[in-house]
Amino acid sequence: MDNARSPNILLGVSGGIAAYKACELVRRLRDAGCVVRVVMTRAATAFVTPLTFQALSGQPVRMDLLDAEAESGMDHIALARWADRVVIAPATADLMARLAAGLADDLLTTVCLATEAPILLAPAMNRVMWEHPATRGNHARLLERGVRMVGPDTGGQACGEHGAGRMAEPASILQALLGGAPLLPLQGRRVLITAGPTREAIDPVRFIANRSSGRMGVALAEAAREAGAEVCLIHGPMALPAPAGIRNIAVETAAEMAQAVLQEIPAADVFIAAAAVADYRPRTTSAQKLKKTADTLTLELVRNPDILAQVAALEPRPFVVGFAAETENLRAHALEKMQRKHLDMIAANDVSGGRAFGTEDNALTVFWPGGERRFPEQPKALLARALLALIAERIEETRASEPMETGR
Ligand code: CTP
Repeated sequence: MDNARSPNILLGVSGGIAAYKACELVRRLRDAGCVVRVVMTRAATAFVTPLTFQALSGQPVRMDLLDAEAESGMDHIALARWADRVVIAPATADLMARLAAGLADDLLTTVCLATEAPILLAPAMNRVMWEHPATRGNHARLLERGVRMVGPDTGGQACGEHGAGRMAEPASILQALLGGAPLLPLQGRRVLITAGPTREAIDPVRFIANRSSGRMGVALAEAAREAGAEVCLIHGPMALPAPAGIRNIAVETAAEMAQAVLQEIPAADVFIAAAAVADYRPRTTSAQKLKKTADTLTLELVRNPDILAQVAALEPRPFVVGFAAETENLRAHALEKMQRKHLDMIAANDVSGGRAFGTEDNALTVFWPGGERRFPEQPKALLARALLALIAERIEETRASEPMETGR
């Protein structure tokens, strides 16, 4: 599994002498595995050339909101969505004032208004400007809105004065940005997902299968990758192509799926069983096509291995998530299934009246020991994202509540 997505960092550079230190920040961010895109204010280009940042980041540098050519590549809204984090270093007094006022008069301020990503500022300015009531007010307003700050430091300034206003060092900015909670909810986690139906052969041309399209499992694989995980998708014959850029293993029968899962499971931190595994298979598979001779034909079926229960019984085991397809008493059946199979979480589908199977949208009720959450009807891609965010949350909570090792 080596297909994890790197965190996307949008670095804003405004016009101050400390802009040269932002070059070092780009290098450190890339060393830390981030993809960095730089947006400069016009004033910043007087201190460092866009070409420098382009060479360091390996990405085109943007300055203008109204640059039609650049906008056709990735427009300002796409750029705002692309970012997992925004960091502005240096953030001048003018930039802080424009952000505090909610202006969108250049590309950088527009992206800051349009993004849902957390924003970190590294202020840098003359000490009198920093202490000015106008700047103090803007600083307070930005903090109130959830913008985080690193620095400024106190010391000698480019203007020859001594006081607070020096931009924090790149190492401190990096620590403020990357330290603490992971940048992406499943960063560094390895997620194994099963998807689609299985096919149990009766003879060379006939098989037992079900209506699963594999869409939910594929959506989960894509969302897990988006959340920073390394993903492996083990799938039966699906109605849609396997997702690009994700390691996938195609199988046909439940037995093959079980074998592939058990082979991959030691490398997994999370296992999500989204496949609709056939519970039974024909006791024998005819080597030749069955001929219609009698008026009736009896097929003897035998139970398939329960992959989910097998994984949950392993020691050590990953965080285990199962699905339940219920047509009645959804809550009671799902809870019973979670307990019986010793799951960390179960996502229950209401499949009465053909709902969920093969459809674009779905609703889920998710249960875990001591909690539940309902996700209303929505496209499977959004549902997958919400479910993975909940899985990341539960993993963090489970880890936080585990007794600390004393080392004795
Ligand atoms: N599962 C599995 N291996 C099987 C059967 C099921 O891994 N041989 C997994 C599915 O991927 C799903 C969950 O177990 O995560 C579903 O459990 P199951 O007991 O099959 O429940 P339902 O399909 O809801 O069926 P029922 O309760 O009617 O048996």
